[in-house]
Amino acid sequence: MQISVIGAGYVGLTTAACLAEIGHQVLCADNDLDKLKKLNSGLLPFFEPHLDSLVKNNAASGRLQFTSPTEAIERGSAIFICVGTPPLESGEADLSAIESVARTIASTARGYRLVIEKSTVPVQTAKRLWKHLAIYNVNGLDFDVVSNPEFLREGSAVGDFFHPDRIVIGAESPRAVAMMKEIYAPVLTSPAACPIHSHCPPVHEVPLIVTDTNSAELVKHASNSFLAMKISFINLVADACEAAGADIAKVAEGIGSDQRIGQSFLNPGIGFGGFCFPKDLQAFVRIGEKLGCDFSLLKEVENINLRRVEQFVAKVRKELWVLRGKTLAIWGLAFKPETDDVRFAPALNIARRLLAEGARIRAYDPQAMQKAKDELPGITYCLSPNEAAHRADAILILTEWAEFRRPDWAELAKTVAHPLVIDGRNLCASEELAAHGFQYVCIGRPQLALPTAAKEFEVSPLLGLAPLASPPLSASARPLP
Ligand SMILES: NC(=O)c1ccc[n+]([C@@H]2O[C@H](COP(=O)([O-])OP(=O)(O)OC[C@H]3O[C@@H](n4cnc5c(N)ncnc54)[C@H](O)[C@@H]3O)[C@@H](O)[C@H]2O)c1
Repeated sequence: MQISVIGAGYVGLTTAACLAEIGHQVLCADNDLDKLKKLNSGLLPFFEPHLDSLVKNNAASGRLQFTSPTEAIERGSAIFICVGTPPLESGEADLSAIESVARTIASTARGYRLVIEKSTVPVQTAKRLWKHLAIYNVNGLDFDVVSNPEFLREGSAVGDFFHPDRIVIGAESPRAVAMMKEIYAPVLTSPAACPIHSHCPPVHEVPLIVTDTNSAELVKHASNSFLAMKISFINLVADACEAAGADIAKVAEGIGSDQRIGQSFLNPGIGFGGFCFPKDLQAFVRIGEKLGCDFSLLKEVENINLRRVEQFVAKVRKELWVLRGKTLAIWGLAFKPETDDVRFAPALNIARRLLAEGARIRAYDPQAMQKAKDELPGITYCLSPNEAAHRADAILILTEWAEFRRPDWAELAKTVAHPLVIDGRNLCASEELAAHGFQYVCIGRPQLALPTAAKEFEVSPLLGLAPLASPPLSASARPLP
């Protein structure tokens, strides 16, 4: 099928390349001319595993081309709208890019078009889109509007396209449903087309959920809000663990072993970020208000998340007292590993707070430094974790990149000014760090390396007593000066 994808960002470019890979003829368009120029010269505007080769191969075969939105709209029978829907000041989604694409479709396209809303939008947007296309239609355009929410995760977006948990189609006409089934047929029926695994995960039938457009739109916002809720929930429980002297790793394992709950998204930390959860949660709260529904549950999910940054900074302050003049190594800037995306990344918010208190920051991220530089000048960007740790008073782990899990602690012990690791992602093994003389502070777990004297004065706010079962101190743990 001749398909057009409008918006060549994380969602649009991935969708375009994957649709080309499964055999469609795809035109990918963007109104950012620099981005188009880059793509046309074989460069990707962002990092996503496996996408580079997929784009190059399909561009070389001629199945994937990059062009202007107008040309893409003129030529595509199915038009995927994948433009950004960033938050407005009020928290509502800004739909101006969607509206602008709709106007171009209405004024440019002729014959029949299937207009597919893939961007994340508030419920009832497809209805508005339909009305808008009808009002601005000047060429007797015949069209359907479909909601096809996107669930890809940055960092595993290509794999997610070929092995989705489900495909949701919100449509109001049999013709639209039939076209959507045709578009996704290779993924629904033959996962062997996957270009990234030599052995794909066991073949299972991909659930195809066909519904009305309002329900499809709600599936997306409700899914992201639920996942955000799970993260805030486990962060609350982690706080309780910390206060009561329990271990969140074991508590999460115990909770998640219940099949009704599951293990995923039970990792405590510095909170969720990225271009989806924070903005989609806010937008869903505003949608609830507009619909007259009580969404206070979700407001609290957001509040808990916002507090994570301040709580982490308080941990740093607790260990280092005054931050002015201290050197802090930050490992990880992206909002999650395997991406260069720093939009709404908690690491950046933490860095800003630490800078405001007068700390000097030396940061390293395997992929996200270029993007972070635009948002966060005034810190030193380093070429390796060890370079960042040079003469640092503490190493702060803020993104769970695999390479931060087991670095050469012996080498690092020689480099740092003070052997302290504050881990916002619970990535490391406390025993290993203690063995190299590092004090290790993480989230919701007992500390191994507290000096005896400090532990004696430690009081549980819940019981008013010292923790009953103190974990053993490592003999090699270096005491605080
Ligand atoms: N990033 C994710 O992980 C993810 C996952 C699922 C859903 N989504 C949703 O998908 C949508 C896109 O997200 P993204 O991360 O790809 O955003 P992005 O910012 O990476 O990409 C959006 C692209 O749209 C282009 N654009 C904006 N207005 C345009 C216009 N009028 N005409 C043509 N191009 C235009 C921009 O230049 C940009 O390249 C959002 O609604 C987002 O919430 C994102």
